[in-house]
Amino acid sequence: MVILTALPFQTQIPRHKMTESSRDILVTSALPYANGPLHLGHILEFIQTDIWVRFQKLQGNTCYYVCASDAHGTATMLKAEEQNLTPEKHVNNIKASQISSCDNFLIDFDNFYSTHSEENRHFSEEIYNRLNACGHIEKKTIKQLFDNEKGLFLADRFIKGYCPKCKAPDQYGDNCEACGATYTPADLIDPISALSGSTPIEKDSEHYFFKLSDFTEFLKEWTTDGHLQDPVSNKLQEWLDAGLQSWDISRDAPYFGFNIPGTEDKYFYVWLDAPIGYMASFKNLCDKEGIDFNAFWAKDSTAELYHFIGKDIINFHALFWPAMLSASEFRTPTGIFAHGFVTVNGQKMSKSRGTFINADDYLKHFDPEHLRYYYASKLTSQVDDIDLNFEDFLGKVNTDIVNKLVNIASRCAKFITKGNNGMLASELDNPSLFGEAKAQQSAITDCYENREYAKAIRLIMKLADDANKYIDEKAPWALAKDPEKSDEVVAICTTGLNLFRLLITYLKPVLPEMAKATESFFNAECDWHTLEPLLNRQINNFKPLAKRIEKKQIDALLAPPTAEEKPKNKKEKKKDKPAETEPSEITIDQFLAVDLRVAKIISAEAVEGADKLLALKLDVGQLGEKQVFSGIKSHYAPEALIGKHTVLVANLKPRKMKFGISEGMILAAGNKDIYLLSPDDGAKPGDKVS
Ligand code: 2FM
Ligand code: ZN
Repeated sequence: MVILTALPFQTQIPRHKMTESSRDILVTSALPYANGPLHLGHILEFIQTDIWVRFQKLQGNTCYYVCASDAHGTATMLKAEEQNLTPEKHVNNIKASQISSCDNFLIDFDNFYSTHSEENRHFSEEIYNRLNACGHIEKKTIKQLFDNEKGLFLADRFIKGYCPKCKAPDQYGDNCEACGATYTPADLIDPISALSGSTPIEKDSEHYFFKLSDFTEFLKEWTTDGHLQDPVSNKLQEWLDAGLQSWDISRDAPYFGFNIPGTEDKYFYVWLDAPIGYMASFKNLCDKEGIDFNAFWAKDSTAELYHFIGKDIINFHALFWPAMLSASEFRTPTGIFAHGFVTVNGQKMSKSRGTFINADDYLKHFDPEHLRYYYASKLTSQVDDIDLNFEDFLGKVNTDIVNKLVNIASRCAKFITKGNNGMLASELDNPSLFGEAKAQQSAITDCYENREYAKAIRLIMKLADDANKYIDEKAPWALAKDPEKSDEVVAICTTGLNLFRLLITYLKPVLPEMAKATESFFNAECDWHTLEPLLNRQINNFKPLAKRIEKKQIDALLAPPTAEEKPKNKKEKKKDKPAETEPSEITIDQFLAVDLRVAKIISAEAVEGADKLLALKLDVGQLGEKQVFSGIKSHYAPEALIGKHTVLVANLKPRKMKFGISEGMILAAGNKDIYLLSPDDGAKPGDKVS
């Protein structure tokens, strides 16, 4: 029997100070751009990384987790301008908000910095100078689209026009969302600057390029040497076989970034200094805490270095980054761990569909540990996308956390706290059940180490099922009616509570707060290395550890934002101005792309749970019947609308709303008051409006 008495649990010596064979590990998550708040896609990666880091720390390894705001680039510059702030001030604001969101999701960084830092300037210059000195930088003059009104060169995503292939309007400069074609901005038909609306001109500019092809042989080896997941490695071989292009690492002024040494008006492209930001954030931590930076970054370092990233940024991390590091005499990463995208209820996250969920909005309605658990239950070591399905989320949290896990403790606790003055029994009623659960530790350890969290959760939940079955069979609540059985009841509940504590120890990387509450309940640390049962000792009163999720919480999160909540974006600001002061021009083709039809309202009903919406059924002649949700409830009684003719935008992309799919939009005039547009008598459903 082991009794933990020597030290109160808070003051136990960290295990890594006691063991000799601990690993030195540096871990990063991709640096979020400093141009907006975090969303649940970012949070997936932070949670995946944080679980791994917490696990490593619990093992007794020395593990540091660093991150930063990715500060540079045109987007940050424009966002700052929009708010009348200096880019530095804007970055600081965003950084503070990113830190706070991560904090709330219990992401335990050792350092969260910014790429706009002196450390990052230092390493960016050093790496560039080393590349340059070895002849890996070349200069080439390229033609680029330039916005004369704004006075800046336009990145692909700031240029819009008609797709050269399918002619869809409003497509960005690198690919068409309608047909999937990829092209260069110069191929767009009638390109315009998305910043000013003006027609860009072509202009020459000298750019600096990193000669990636100098590293083809190195990369062929590195990408097949166990640093990458197999499908990632295979994909990269295709690119390597196709031949590596030089990488454009400079941008012209005006640009928010670091000046390239030896130039006046050339800046490092944001993606050049972003991964160097990993080093810079770590250096900043080293300086604060006296850690040996070189032990982690020198070419001969024996420390491990891992980058958790999304699958969209693999080329930066698995090609450019190792090439830059190796060329400048630094160590290369031990592993790059790519994950897939988050979809919400099976759909790509999208603002217009209401499935783009900000981290802070989630937190207004739900517990952070519930998402940590849900994501963990779905995460594997693969690059697959992860669907955040809210019904599944509700089911999993309520079933696994509340009904299975916490239920073990809540059914047993009172027989110890009230029934036995808080004293646990001196022996377990069922040591072999406890032994079986303990024996799973090594399998669970392997799962965490290999980022197979979903499998770890399955193993742990199987143990929870076993524990619940045991308690069901023993039914201590029935035995407790017989005073002669009180010792048996205490021994059963001691077994149940120890099983609960063991499972929480296994879940500690995922549910750190619940583990903390459990530690207070037992007055003992949930220590990965000390799995012996707690016997013959005092525990505290049990406080409820988790609350069920209600459907209405999901509805509240997914409800379309009210007018007051909607962020004011540029377009909306324009809408506030009198229409005639700044009509933004469209071409006749753009206008003709809108399919306007006469529609007859055949039914109109209020929508439960929506203050402003009416659900309309429309007869659109040869186009059939369509359902549209329209925000006109405050101005029209539903029955007054039936039989009316109006104008429908019939080819608007259907929009999935909480209440159903809206298949178009009806037209109305007015700002405050609303007047439905109606054709003169004689127009028939389905008639084209032009
Ligand atoms: O894709 C992104 O969001 C980038 N800001 C990630 C940068 S990761 C690293 F290289 F800095
Ligand atoms: Zn197209």
